[in-house]
Amino acid sequence: MTELIKITDPGLPDAKNALKRAAEILKNGGLVVMPTETVYGLGGNGLDENAAKKIYEAKGRPADNPLILHIEKPEDAEKYCHTSPLYFALAKAFMPGPLTVIMPKKDIVPLTVTAGLDTVAVRCPEHKVANALIHEAGIPIAAPSANLSGKPSPTNAKYVLEDMDGRVDMIIDGGECEIGLESTIVMIKNDSLTLLRPGAVTYDALSLVCVKVTIDDKVIRMLKENEKPLSPGMKYKHYAPNTPLVLLDGEENRQIEFIKNEMKTKKCAILCYDEEKDTLNHKNAFLIPIGMRDDLASHAKKLFTALRDADKLSCDIIYAHLPPMSGLGLALYNRMIRAAAHTILKV
Ligand code: TXA
Ligand code: MG
Repeated sequence: MTELIKITDPGLPDAKNALKRAAEILKNGGLVVMPTETVYGLGGNGLDENAAKKIYEAKGRPADNPLILHIEKPEDAEKYCHTSPLYFALAKAFMPGPLTVIMPKKDIVPLTVTAGLDTVAVRCPEHKVANALIHEAGIPIAAPSANLSGKPSPTNAKYVLEDMDGRVDMIIDGGECEIGLESTIVMIKNDSLTLLRPGAVTYDALSLVCVKVTIDDKVIRMLKENEKPLSPGMKYKHYAPNTPLVLLDGEENRQIEFIKNEMKTKKCAILCYDEEKDTLNHKNAFLIPIGMRDDLASHAKKLFTALRDADKLSCDIIYAHLPPMSGLGLALYNRMIRAAAHTILKV
């Protein structure tokens, strides 16, 4: 049985009681889904091997794909990994917030959490409910995104429930996630950073703190056969809807003309800009507006829900615009090329 509770303000008396119960569940080795500012996380005691095993099982996640430890305060990282001045510079600039940092692990972190690696990923979330829960539990919370492996990360409780009902002890509904894409992941090596997963903390922002930031080339391409990535998550099929997703590249008017032509013969779901709603209106077109053209933050916030919504329409195909590769666009690009299995159509 999965208990669903709603918490908007962790300071309210009812919420405090609910958080106490959630913390008890975690301390007793159970699983609680919590909201974060990025996406919902499937949480368990990050120091408990068995809880970690349960997380992999609930998600159907391959055991070689490690979990992120969510901590209350940036300095808590010292307990779990070998930090460095660069870590504290990043913490000062971006924590709490959507940044995950990979560092050499300490023995206290079970190898089940890190999938056998000698490094561990830590993140200090900004979401009030997540933060209150970590505080109340008094342990680091290991939490991957709360989706079944391979599906888009859930950014609302409805889609958490769809994947996790019956698989976890409790789901905390904290409303819509503010950012909508998972955290930026960087790996620290001496005084340099490798960007392994782009997110709301952008390459440009990281570069202001560290002069040596390299974007791992696998961020914008597929893995080759037998290639071993720095981040195991890069190997796996991700975010994919069942309906084929095609990303359109090229001048925008041509993209619109192309879609209009397609609608004559196909039932199309279209992740469109708000400005395009009128021109794309058609009986064969199911429009899913993702915000104004230039509002990348809105596209990010709506992407995963849009993909899940689109998948429910029994369309022949889903079309979306290929995002730019700069700023927050890099995070969108990274998720969308995976969701589309790299099907990019130049029109
Ligand atoms: O925003 C987020 O990061 C969300 C929320 C819940 O905090 N969490 C999340 O977790 O996206 P997950 O498990 O879905 O993605 C974590 C990624 C995986 O691709 C994993 O391979 C990588 O982080 N990762 C974790 N630990 C690592 C390590 N020690 N070395 C390399 N990659 C690691
Ligand atoms: Mg995930």
